[in-house]
Amino acid sequence: MLRTGIFKISQLKNKQLKDLFGKEKNISIKLYHDIKTDSSIVNTIYNKYSEIILNRFNTKSNAIKRTYRNRFNAFDVNCIKKIEEASFENVKIHDLAISDGRASCFFLENAINSFQKLNYTGSDIAMYYYLYSKPNEKNCYVITQENGVIIEITQAPFVWNMARKEGKLYFINNWLKSYYLKKCTNLLKSGALNAPEKIHITDKEFSQLIQSNSNFSLKNYNLFEADTATYNVIRVMNILHFGYFSEDQLQLIFNNIYNSLEENGLLIEGSNEDAGSEVEGAIYKKTKNGFVLMLSGEKKSRIEKSVLNFKP
Ligand SMILES: C[S@@+](CC[C@H](N)C(=O)[O-])C[C@H]1O[C@@H](n2cnc3c(N)ncnc32)[C@H](O)[C@@H]1O
Repeated sequence: MLRTGIFKISQLKNKQLKDLFGKEKNISIKLYHDIKTDSSIVNTIYNKYSEIILNRFNTKSNAIKRTYRNRFNAFDVNCIKKIEEASFENVKIHDLAISDGRASCFFLENAINSFQKLNYTGSDIAMYYYLYSKPNEKNCYVITQENGVIIEITQAPFVWNMARKEGKLYFINNWLKSYYLKKCTNLLKSGALNAPEKIHITDKEFSQLIQSNSNFSLKNYNLFEADTATYNVIRVMNILHFGYFSEDQLQLIFNNIYNSLEENGLLIEGSNEDAGSEVEGAIYKKTKNGFVLMLSGEKKSRIEKSVLNFKP
């Protein structure tokens, strides 16, 4: 069986998102860039399509970029209150694993309105990718992470996401996928592809907020790396739970967060489903011995016990 992919805006418009057997087609992440820069795409359509593209885009570590605007507004309001109560002279926030930042807009807007001195850094494991097109071949390109690892190959009419399985029945897809992976790896190594173009995975509205203040910035940051910068607020939404990580992995991440927080700094974490659904989350304060609970979300955090068990 054969399944083609989605690599043109017109295919998104025509709702050709599933194959004949109802299986979801792969959507090229290049389309995220295309719809953002196409002036004929109005905001409502941009919101709808970009969410579909992110929700179907996996990365190597199988971390889905699924995200929504206004995802946890009620929880965000409570977090801003807790930060106000902490009376930091200069509020320095690191917002981790933000995908394209759309779920951070409401929080950042509120922070802007609440704090005179505000530094904000948003990060994700990949805030951008590199697109290498093939000379003289339309709709044929390779997309890599910053470290050069191929995450997608589009060879019209196919799109292969390296982190998504095609399924056993799609044996022609699987055969072509490994053939093109070998071929494209060699083309990349030998420099036979066009110079790369950077594809930023940053939401339109969120980009404007970041650009509005020179104390706001974005960076690539992996939760498993020690961060040399320090902050008094670290926020991590919809990634720190057992669906993604084991207890041991969570403890490694807490250690990095702890070391990057200033004394009495706050950790905000939570998970939920669609926009506006109840947040299973909490706010904690850094102490000498670990973290103490300051406030719970609408529901108890999925990882509260792990956070409270953390020992520096
Ligand atoms: C489900 S999304 C959540 C996005 C946003 N925080 C929200 O709540 O809507 C998870 C995000 O975590 C990022 N991610 C996965 N592994 C990561 C890691 N090791 N370091 C940093 N970010 C990571 C993914 O790229 C993805 O954007």
